Amino acid sequence: MTFDTIITRGTVVTASDTFSCDVGVKDGRIVALADKLSGAEETIDASGLLVMPGGIDSHVHLEQPGAPGIIMADTFETGTRSAAVGGNTFVMPFCLQEKGQTLRESIEAYRRKAEGNCFVDVAFHLIVTDPTPQVLGQELPALIAEGFTSIKIFMTYDDLKLADREILEVLSVAQQHRALVMVHAEGYDAIRFLSDRLERQGSTAPHFHGTSRPIAVEREATHRAISLAEIVDTPVMIVHVSNRQAMEEIRRAQMRGLAVFGETCPQYLVLTEQDMDRTGMEGAKYVCSPPPRDLDSQKACWEGLQQGVFEVFSSDHCPFRYDDPAGKMAPRGKTNFRYVPNGIPGIATRMPILFSEGVVKGRIDLNRFVALTSTNHAKRYGLYPRKGTIAVGSDADIVLWDAKREVTITHSMLKDGCDYTPYEGMAVTGWPVRTILRGRTIDPDAAARDGELVSR
Ligand code: URP
Ligand code: ZN
Ligand code: ZN
Repeated sequence: MTFDTIITRGTVVTASDTFSCDVGVKDGRIVALADKLSGAEETIDASGLLVMPGGIDSHVHLEQPGAPGIIMADTFETGTRSAAVGGNTFVMPFCLQEKGQTLRESIEAYRRKAEGNCFVDVAFHLIVTDPTPQVLGQELPALIAEGFTSIKIFMTYDDLKLADREILEVLSVAQQHRALVMVHAEGYDAIRFLSDRLERQGSTAPHFHGTSRPIAVEREATHRAISLAEIVDTPVMIVHVSNRQAMEEIRRAQMRGLAVFGETCPQYLVLTEQDMDRTGMEGAKYVCSPPPRDLDSQKACWEGLQQGVFEVFSSDHCPFRYDDPAGKMAPRGKTNFRYVPNGIPGIATRMPILFSEGVVKGRIDLNRFVALTSTNHAKRYGLYPRKGTIAVGSDADIVLWDAKREVTITHSMLKDGCDYTPYEGMAVTGWPVRTILRGRTIDPDAAARDGELVSR
């Protein structure tokens, strides 16, 4: 047989083109694109379906340790299973350096958790929280040379934040050794100040999570992060941008010719701060940082996606169970938003939401959808063209997509480790019907976990 698998009669969509052709797969790679192919052990009829590169979600949190007593809802097994359900073939979680830990210790810990347990392929970003001279001078340069070429830093959160001097030190190592720094841009001191004041006033319900980190907090930190990156002349990716003012900071930097990139996420397109107002503790289901904003912020995030200010669209999947003292119902969180774990699930719903709200509603075209959900992630994070496109020589990571299928999102269909979805009851048009990893269809109900740790 010439091929292991042929995908026939589908409409192939890449970040630049849309065309009808068959796709021939051999040994996990795409080996032919042609009008009519034959001679395969398996033929998949994709009539009426879109044939797109599998989704790449370059911002997810899996099995990441948090505050004492809090446990993330997804393991590598459940998180990557849900990713596959949502049409993804690749995810990029974070290796969190806990204070006092070396980066290598943290990478080894995550490797142990991930190896043999993933339904999709995986590559890690590093989170640097303790930039000691040893980390900056030896570990980080060596790890960048080994392929860990993306580093996230935080400007807020007690155990994670870096001071400006430390940010400059990390940026400068990235500049010297050619890595990309991803920045969580919210200002720590302003959030502390506002949270303390809200607490004194007794304003502690989940809704006040949003009040404690207003748009100005994100805009200021975005501006500062860009300025620090400009000072050391290195590229920077501002992640999970939620509003117009932060988006405009990024646009301005881009117009000045700086290598500043932006990311936004589904929660900033379809949720608002009013979701955190829901009765009782229900609002906790929507507590994430930055928080969902207002309708103008949603509009601005769409503009950022349409106009190329945002290069990647990620989930920032950061799942905590709702009805669980190790999750959103943490004992102290029940009476104070400050102790509600930040983050919401969304690894499976990212692509359907962007397709339905973006492509079906005419806000973006199919090619931009592919760029935003797959190709641009591969390019930015050093995986292209092995990943992120449909081309001869690329891995056969493919999603077959039914553009007409109408689905009402409900948590049980997502097969994750959480106990809710923030998008329960949302009607979407367009759904992934088959996710193929290196030529093999992923069965989320099977024991087989073929996902590999990919080096860059
Ligand atoms: O609330 C969020 N986004 N939690 C996840 C951690 C992060 O900042 O990305
Ligand atoms: Zn973040
Ligand atoms: Zn995140």
